[in-house]
Amino acid sequence: MADSLRIGIAGLGTVGSSLVRILQQRSKELAITCGRAIEIIAVSARDRSRDRGLDLAGITWFDTPEDMAKKAEIDVFVELVGGASGAAEKAVRAALARGIHVVTANKALLAKHGVELAVMAEEKGALLNFEAAVAGGIPIIKALRESLTGNHVSRIYGIMNGTCNYILTKMEKEGLSFEACLKEAQRLGYAEADPAFDIEGNDTAHKLAILTTLAFGSKISADDIYLEGISNITIEDIQAASDLGYRIKLLGVAHVTESGIEQRVHPTMVPLDSVIAQVDGVTNAVAVESDILGELLMVGPGAGGNATASAVLGDIADIAKSRPGVQQVPVLGRPAKSLSEYRRAKMKSHEGGYFIRLTVKDKAGVFASIATRMAENNISLESIVQHSRVHTEGGPQTIILVTHATMEDAIRKAVKAIKSEKYLVNEPQVIRIERT
Ligand code: HSE
Repeated sequence: MADSLRIGIAGLGTVGSSLVRILQQRSKELAITCGRAIEIIAVSARDRSRDRGLDLAGITWFDTPEDMAKKAEIDVFVELVGGASGAAEKAVRAALARGIHVVTANKALLAKHGVELAVMAEEKGALLNFEAAVAGGIPIIKALRESLTGNHVSRIYGIMNGTCNYILTKMEKEGLSFEACLKEAQRLGYAEADPAFDIEGNDTAHKLAILTTLAFGSKISADDIYLEGISNITIEDIQAASDLGYRIKLLGVAHVTESGIEQRVHPTMVPLDSVIAQVDGVTNAVAVESDILGELLMVGPGAGGNATASAVLGDIADIAKSRPGVQQVPVLGRPAKSLSEYRRAKMKSHEGGYFIRLTVKDKAGVFASIATRMAENNISLESIVQHSRVHTEGGPQTIILVTHATMEDAIRKAVKAIKSEKYLVNEPQVIRIERT
């Protein structure tokens, strides 16, 4: 059997601890599968004294990830620290500079520095694997990077944040508040260290930016993503969506249009009978539409220790099975230097259906005025209803509109015109509808 693959793991949180356990428990089986043993020879984590329930005997401890990346005699540096900059970035750069392979789950790092790191890895002949960075255990990176080669992708979209999907599902099924559901997601280890990254959509945006590059061959451009989180979604929206035959999901969508690539992350209405609407809880789903293959939908666990560790393990095993001197898969699916410039499609040119919920004063002419504002902006309505679920005589009324496909620009103008009238009681809620 070949020499063992020596790995160093930086970060012993939920994912790192799961990974150590799996590698130790399945060491014999993995050695047979990979043709050589995978040996953890170094670790680094913030607190050395913390009891993680792990057996770290015989493993060299490094106080910082960077120190480990610079000094440890390892073949693979596993980065499970997180964060776009700081310790994780320094350590990954140090490892690649030594030509050491890197496996990372760090979507924020890749969204910000992915192209540069890919260039570095390719120049050094090192692998940079990151299956765990997008949609947890779902092997979407491998699918895009390898299996769909030659396909022209037109749209990629999905549920890529387990915390948000868990919250939206729990709110709908159990009628619990947003805050209570978020607390539970944190307790279960799904949420980021700062859960604002989850609920405000940044985490999904980082993942989407990576997928966009793999799907369309353009440079990573996370700053060009239109972003809306789920923190202002109410039980009332969820119920109204359901009454109209929809469910609300936080989707990341990247789409090729005539004017460029549209990348957006926002709460989205999907038809109740669509497969993606059935994706509940922490589960993620990614759909790819491409010309040769057609439609692909991958569904699976999107967050949590074991699911994420499974993807990290797959990446490590790929390195263990690879042989020096053999041409490797480019980090971002094609040589990093050949990625095209990113061309952004303006959000106001987005075309689709819209759900609009208005809370208005109960007085004559409001309905007619809303319909007029829509007509003035050439917006065709699929339905307009006074929503009786929350009706109180003389009190504020809820009016729900669903539009046919229209331009975002027209919706913004119509909503602005409606806001300038004095009958709105609070901010209008606008949720995009996605064809799935
Ligand atoms: N916080 C992330 C989520 C973890 O909820 O999906 C996986 O990236």
